[in-house]
Amino acid sequence: MTNPAAQPAWQELQQLAQQLTDSHLETLFAEDATRAQSMTVEAPGLYLDFSKQRVTASVLQALYSLAHQQQLTTQRAALFTGGMLNTTEQRAAWHTALRAPAQDSADGYGCAAVHAVLDAMRAFTQQVRDGAWRGFDGRAIGDVVNIGIGGSDLGPRLVCRALAEPGGGPRMHFVANVDPADLRDTLAGLDPATTLFVVTSKSFATPETLANARAARHWLQAAGADSADVGRHFVAVSANREAVTAFGIDRMFEIWDWVCGRYSLWSAVGLPIALALGMPAFEQLLAGAHAMDRHFRQAPAASNLPLTLALLGIWNRNFLDLPGHIVVPYAQRLVHFPEWLQQLEMESNGKGVTRDGGPVAVETAPMVWGTVGTNAQHAYFQMLHQASVAADIDFILPLPHAELDADERERQRVANCLAQSEALLRGRTAKAPVSTAQQSAALAAARHFDGDRPSSTLLLDRLDAWHLGALLAAYEHKTFVQGVIWGINSFDQWGVELGKTLADELIHGLMETGTARHSASTRALLARIRGEH
Ligand code: F6P
Repeated sequence: MTNPAAQPAWQELQQLAQQLTDSHLETLFAEDATRAQSMTVEAPGLYLDFSKQRVTASVLQALYSLAHQQQLTTQRAALFTGGMLNTTEQRAAWHTALRAPAQDSADGYGCAAVHAVLDAMRAFTQQVRDGAWRGFDGRAIGDVVNIGIGGSDLGPRLVCRALAEPGGGPRMHFVANVDPADLRDTLAGLDPATTLFVVTSKSFATPETLANARAARHWLQAAGADSADVGRHFVAVSANREAVTAFGIDRMFEIWDWVCGRYSLWSAVGLPIALALGMPAFEQLLAGAHAMDRHFRQAPAASNLPLTLALLGIWNRNFLDLPGHIVVPYAQRLVHFPEWLQQLEMESNGKGVTRDGGPVAVETAPMVWGTVGTNAQHAYFQMLHQASVAADIDFILPLPHAELDADERERQRVANCLAQSEALLRGRTAKAPVSTAQQSAALAAARHFDGDRPSSTLLLDRLDAWHLGALLAAYEHKTFVQGVIWGINSFDQWGVELGKTLADELIHGLMETGTARHSASTRALLARIRGEH
């Protein structure tokens, strides 16, 4: 059964949504004095308060039933045991095996290959960080540039930014965009003799990545390195050894077809993390993710954090008709989290067919967006507070490391996060303590806030490698559960194929005469770009 709308729980949830439409969120708090305690869930290192979501105990029960009716238990078991979840590509989606300790082999893992690659990463990372790995003029590596895009960029970029400390390892840089400015700007000021490139591409066929890698190789050789030196300055992370060898790279860190790109940061795709932060930090990241795996697998529904995140998303998307999901981390170091989440949720679950190949009968992935707070407050929060925005929000708040009274900015960071969800909940009516006496009615109306806008707040005990691993794994499992409930394959991405094919044809169109295969609009644009009229 892949159509969730045919399940009894779906009908029940539709009725519950109708009953709740007119209840202000503040009324839900008034009706249940324990709500701020009962509508919470904890997992290792994380605490989720969803009391400001438009849910009741009955809604939660019906959501648990829906998950059960959509075979979540069976699907989850397949996730952890390498079952073939990616049916259109005939592959497992076994990213949980990447972060399982070696001794967990009795638990259905025991991927010796995973630990062999981790060992190779450890040895290489140590050589680079110790200065034993030398560039073509004998000096040690000072800068590392990862060239990759999508899942071969976003995860490592997020983690390196989140955890980087000054000093320690080499400086880490990321180039994803095929716009020549990205590589050019990154390389400006770098010394070719002390720069190492990690070309990360599972397929080793992504045109943007290969074009940037060729340009980087040219930059290196223009500085005096010969082709024999390329191996000192280029390593690859890929599943395609043949293409890597053809490029002239000897040292490849293997990933496997069962590692889906957007779930790959736990594999050798995380090599930039290990190079920049050290292998122990990478291992802590894996350990935090593994702790979340265990929680997701074992915790009962009512205390299962990723499951709760997923069900709240289903409720908001499918029953309260909120097509947007906004994520606002109150942590500058999580600046790349929203981009990472966009690929995770929208490439995984932005689907129009079920696992059986039929049309999806319900809405799937929401539009995910967001930026860090407090910056977001000074950009689009006006709209969230007063326009009719159909979205819910996740506030993510790492708890302060230092004492709150040590730095006024820490107090501001924490207070602003709490203030925003409070304002979205309560609003401000004419009765609120605003001095309206001397104001015009128009001004009073302009200052009115309805409130009643749902959000969740996720507290992270610390922003370190272990907790970050747990956070990212929680969102991965959220995405997985939603895909199961929607009855779709979360691990393929056929929707990106057509654009790739057309771009390939148009590249030739740019060099030669335009092709008749494209639309009239595209041909006219091509002619204008070529200066033909
Ligand atoms: O956007 C399509 C996609 O295949 C993503 O799923 C993937 O993360 C990205 O391209 C990069 O792919 P590769 O690692 O093969 O270069």
